[in-house]
Formats: sequence, structure tokens, C-alpha cells
Amino acid sequence: MRTDALLSRFGYCSRREVAQWLKRGRVTRNGTPIKSPSEKVEPEEVLIDGEPVEFPRGIYIALNKPLGCTCSHKEEGELVYDLLPPQWLSRNPVVNTVGRLDKETSGLLLLTDDGAFEHAQTSPKRHVPKVYAFTTTAPIPASAVALFASGELVLDGERTPCLPAELVITGEQSGKLTLHEGRYHQVRRMLASVGAPVDTLERIEIGPLKLADLNLEPGEWCEIDPAIFAR
Ligand code: URA
Repeated sequence: MRTDALLSRFGYCSRREVAQWLKRGRVTRNGTPIKSPSEKVEPEEVLIDGEPVEFPRGIYIALNKPLGCTCSHKEEGELVYDLLPPQWLSRNPVVNTVGRLDKETSGLLLLTDDGAFEHAQTSPKRHVPKVYAFTTTAPIPASAVALFASGELVLDGERTPCLPAELVITGEQSGKLTLHEGRYHQVRRMLASVGAPVDTLERIEIGPLKLADLNLEPGEWCEIDPAIFAR
């Protein structure tokens, strides 16, 4: 790619500022400063201010989302993006969450700057299973297991029933629910529909990825290999 495209793609500076960066010798290849914005380079072969380009083939990370932050670029208050290195937010394409978790849901959240990956993961056709651990403010009726598995539960205000979902009741007011789709506030609405409103909610698995295996404190992230999601 052109050097000016690289600097703006990876969030270093705008195309307008590239000439200044090159004049100051901030971009080098094999120890030699690159002089022309149009010079073609591979992201892996350049150093910028002496450092390699971070995630030259795209950002794919898993974040342990803490409670209280929002999956949005725009809203007021704390955002999941505040937990990432600021330079990532200047990249183009931008880093986005893969789907969303509610402000008051914690746990496993993927983020990427690869639009095709984001699209593939959120496509309703793929049915990537997601597992949620929850507690409720009232006992969970045993009948919810069969109802959720039936594929016949129609949520308030909707016409199409939810896809079959697997509910495992682990205590009077706790359980795990595996969903194969992602409707608005789906776990909360499903449990509310059986008289067991959610108290706490955490996503613990997305497809092959398990939060417990990642050793992430709330707010921490790690790189993941997107190939594990390929089928
Ligand atoms: N279901 C919900 O109700 N909330 C989430 O954040 C995710 C799934």
C-alpha cells in the first residue's frame, strides 16, 4: 500500500500531515527514511518512530467488558472504546464491537476493525452460539427449559418465535442460557417472560471462545485468532 494510505489506515496521521511526518524521517524501511507519500510499502516492513505497526493485518480482540460501559461510539458516559489504546480509535476502518452487550451486562465481547469478520459473526444465518450466565430476582420455573427449547416462545412485541435455546438451571435463581441469535435484550426478555427477571448477566462464551480460558480481569483484552471462528 502507499505510505500515505498506511499512515492514515493505522491511525498515525491524516493524509494531509503525511508530508511532514516523512520530512522528519519518522517512517523508515531497513533503517532508511521513506521520502515519498506514494512509495509502496508492506505494513510489516516499516517502523514508525522506531516502532512496528501494531496489528498490521487487522485488530481482532476479546474484551472482558465491565459493567457500566456502553458499546457505542457516541453515547455519554463510559464507553468500551475508552478501554482500548487511543491510537486504535484513529484507525480507518474504525474498530467496532462485534454485536453489543447491554450497559449492565458484563463479559465476553469481540472487537475488530475487519468489517467482513464483524458481518460474518453477526449474520443471523451463522447462528454462532453464545452462552450467558445469569442470576434472577425470582425463582426460575422448571418449565422454562422446555419452553425455551421449543422454538415457540414469542417475545412481547414480536411476531417470530425465538430460535430454540438451551437453558440449564444451576440454582433456584441462577442458570446458563445458550442462544443462537441475538435479539434486543433477548436474555432479559426471555427470563422476564417466565417471571424470573434478570438480576446479573454475563456472557461467558462466543462459539469456541470461553471467557474462563482467557484469564482477563474486567476491562482487560487480549488478541484472538479470527481463524478459530472459521467453519
Ligand atoms: N441479552 C441481553 O438481555 N443482554 C445482553 O447484553 C445480551 C443478551
